[in-house]
Amino acid sequence: MRFTTRVCATIGVAMALCSGAGDSLGAVVNLVAVKDASIFGDLTSNANGAGVYIHCGSNSGGDVRRALIQFDLSSIPAGSTITAVTLTLRVDDGGNTGPTETIELHKLTQSWSEGPTNPASGGGHGATAVAGDVTWLKRTYNTTSWTNAGGTFSASISASASISSTAGPHSWSSAGMLTDVQGWYASSATNFGWLLKGNEVTDQTARRISSRQNATASERPTLSVTYTPPVTSGACCHPTTGACTTTSGSFACIVGGNVYQGNGTTCVPNPCPQPTGACCTGSGACTIDDSAGCAALGRYYQGNNTVCSPNPCPVLSGACCQNNATCSFVPQLNCAFANGNYQGDNITCAAAACPWVLTPFVDPLPIPSVAVPTTGTAGGRAHYDMYIRQFSHQFHSQLPMTTVWGYNDLYPGPTIEARENLPVTTTWINDLRFNGPASALRNFHVLPIDLCLHGPDITGRTPVTVTHLHGAHLLPDSDGDPDTAFAPGFSSPLYNYPNNQHAATLWYHDHALGLTRLNVYMGLAGFYLIRDAIEDALNLPRGHNEVPLVIQDRSFTAAGQLKYNDTFVDHFFGDFTCVNGKVWPYLDVRKGKYRFRIVNGSNTRTYRLQLVGPPAALFVSVPAWQIGSDLGLLAAPVSLGGGVARAGTVTIMPGERAEIVIDFANYTAGQNITLQNIAVVPFPGGGDGPDILNVMQFRITSTAGDIDPLPATLKSVPRTPEAEATVTRTFTLSKDTDITCNHDMWLINHLMWSDITEFPKIGDTEIWRWVNQSGLSHPMHIHLVEFQVLDRDGFSVDGGGNIIPDGVPVQPPTWERGWKDTVQATPNQITRVIARFRDYPGTFPFHCHILDHEDHEMMRQFTVGCK
Ligand code: C2O
Ligand code: CU
Ligand code: CU
Repeated sequence: MRFTTRVCATIGVAMALCSGAGDSLGAVVNLVAVKDASIFGDLTSNANGAGVYIHCGSNSGGDVRRALIQFDLSSIPAGSTITAVTLTLRVDDGGNTGPTETIELHKLTQSWSEGPTNPASGGGHGATAVAGDVTWLKRTYNTTSWTNAGGTFSASISASASISSTAGPHSWSSAGMLTDVQGWYASSATNFGWLLKGNEVTDQTARRISSRQNATASERPTLSVTYTPPVTSGACCHPTTGACTTTSGSFACIVGGNVYQGNGTTCVPNPCPQPTGACCTGSGACTIDDSAGCAALGRYYQGNNTVCSPNPCPVLSGACCQNNATCSFVPQLNCAFANGNYQGDNITCAAAACPWVLTPFVDPLPIPSVAVPTTGTAGGRAHYDMYIRQFSHQFHSQLPMTTVWGYNDLYPGPTIEARENLPVTTTWINDLRFNGPASALRNFHVLPIDLCLHGPDITGRTPVTVTHLHGAHLLPDSDGDPDTAFAPGFSSPLYNYPNNQHAATLWYHDHALGLTRLNVYMGLAGFYLIRDAIEDALNLPRGHNEVPLVIQDRSFTAAGQLKYNDTFVDHFFGDFTCVNGKVWPYLDVRKGKYRFRIVNGSNTRTYRLQLVGPPAALFVSVPAWQIGSDLGLLAAPVSLGGGVARAGTVTIMPGERAEIVIDFANYTAGQNITLQNIAVVPFPGGGDGPDILNVMQFRITSTAGDIDPLPATLKSVPRTPEAEATVTRTFTLSKDTDITCNHDMWLINHLMWSDITEFPKIGDTEIWRWVNQSGLSHPMHIHLVEFQVLDRDGFSVDGGGNIIPDGVPVQPPTWERGWKDTVQATPNQITRVIARFRDYPGTFPFHCHILDHEDHEMMRQFTVGCK
């Protein structure tokens, strides 16, 4: 910039050049004719060069007149491109009237001269020619003849226009005229102008047109020429700094001692040779580069013309993270050699928040062992003593041991195997201690407690627990009532699980009021599988080929301990995905079918699962089917391959289950298939937490597997008819403000845990409508019952706050037509479910299964009574 000013200011000429520099917009020039004249077919020695009119057409006696007109194009700058021309002529017939006549424009091909003859009045007959005039026979009187009498002109019509006798301007514009003018501009020696040829057949058709000698300047013939001026600017390079400016022409550039790059060259990208200098890595290595090249390498430019010898490069250090556990302040190269994660030059270890960087797929998937009954038989009638204890667990081989809680010293807890109609009993024992069997019972939680929440406002920091069997159909005293959570050193009453329900993937987990999110996060969850004769009769993958997967997200502190927020948050998202208690594990699989019973055991995270494998395939090409949902098998397998409805993915929210069969038979040993999660958090809008892609990996081995075909149908799942329902309940889902605790709270119908307003009757079928006004999805879970999803409909809210359904409900997809206990209540929709209250009376919870929501009032109760 400064450079331009200097050139323009010191050189007078340059100022003018600068002002017009780079003007590439169209320019217009209006040219007045430089010659015009009339010639007379009957009076071949008469002329009208200097008269104020020109004429064309036939007069009342049938005598022909022709007009000649010429423009000088020399004022258009050389090198321009002419893009349009318009000829404007003013008719002035002196009050004559007559019909509209066609006048043609022809290019003259011989030169002619306009003489001094100026006849009186209209000049319609001219006057006797003198030397220098143009006449019908002579292009210059009286020495040079036209080759053709009446003017020598091109036979082709450059333009033609209908011209009325009404006084006023007429404009002509045509491609032919443009071609003529472009030709004249290119070679001025060919510019002889145009001949105007009117109607020469019919009498009294002549038009009188103002000439260039007309007294009124605005009446004279004009040719308007639009042209693009030539590019006269270009890039100008400073020889030492490499700076580029645009100058108008080469002169303005070279007078400053610079190098002109040519007309039309530009400064972006900079064409100027750049100066170079020493370029340093953070660890002291020196190379020669230009400033931009050096910066692009993330190195440090030492200045123009600096050199590498002697080496000017300082050795910079920064925090080098080896996971949370270690941080060293070393040069970048040293960090790279140590496979560390360099945090940046000059960043100290104190300032660095070294994240855990864990390698995916290095730990094998643990499969929870089957619970050993205290009395009875696993898989049949049995009693289990379930000890809730604190112990150490390794979530990943790159993490240290982490303090967790679990049932019978397992994370996740042991899998309880049960069978339809064979009852199981349990005693849940809170044996949480500080440090092993003989140590003191814990009197405060491992994680920070928000004492403002309902629950801890009474129980304080005591790690109370109570266990709920999710999906179980039972009486309330065995359901794990959140209000009945008990402290370390205490046990539950005997819980009865009648198992009078079909085969399904259930799971048990903690349900303490206001503490569920923390207790489950610590590890209090496990599988409970009910089997039945219908399932036994189906040839589904079993044994080795049947694997439960509980997916949970977790974060770790610098010391590798479970990390959770200090106070209540709207929703918690962990940094890593764990399956069965391992971060990103792998499973060696046989070449055949597997049945995976997937539970979303996370606090908040939704998973949209897809399979990615050789060759870069989604479910679209990895053969996979969904065979079951929350409470058992679907009517038939739903193919996930190329499925339009699922687009190859399976979406599960917290609390939900999906049973998937994947067929690995067609892969070869050594190939891998990755289970990925493409859901964003929060779901479905995203934008408020870490999205995590990896879930786990399947590694194909050479061992033969289950290659039997899947049964075409699984079991009968009759739809509950909507007409059977006698009661409809509507529940709004919203985020409200908890003024006392100074944060958000999530509510159902703007009511709380202790507000019991719903009283279904045994024998009734009811429709429950979830009206989601909160902007994100909530997995709504109802204890006791199994329900079916009816449909989803959009809605609007009228001025009175009434919910108005759109009226075009969408039916659930096939995979959502099985028995459910948790439903995805999607934002801005009314999700309807239908349930039968078939037998057990009592008070049960219903809630959002986002644990952070259920812990802060998105959980209420209903009481089932007798009719
Ligand atoms: Cu799985 Cu009341 O919850
Ligand atoms: Cu439940
Ligand atoms: Cu919720």
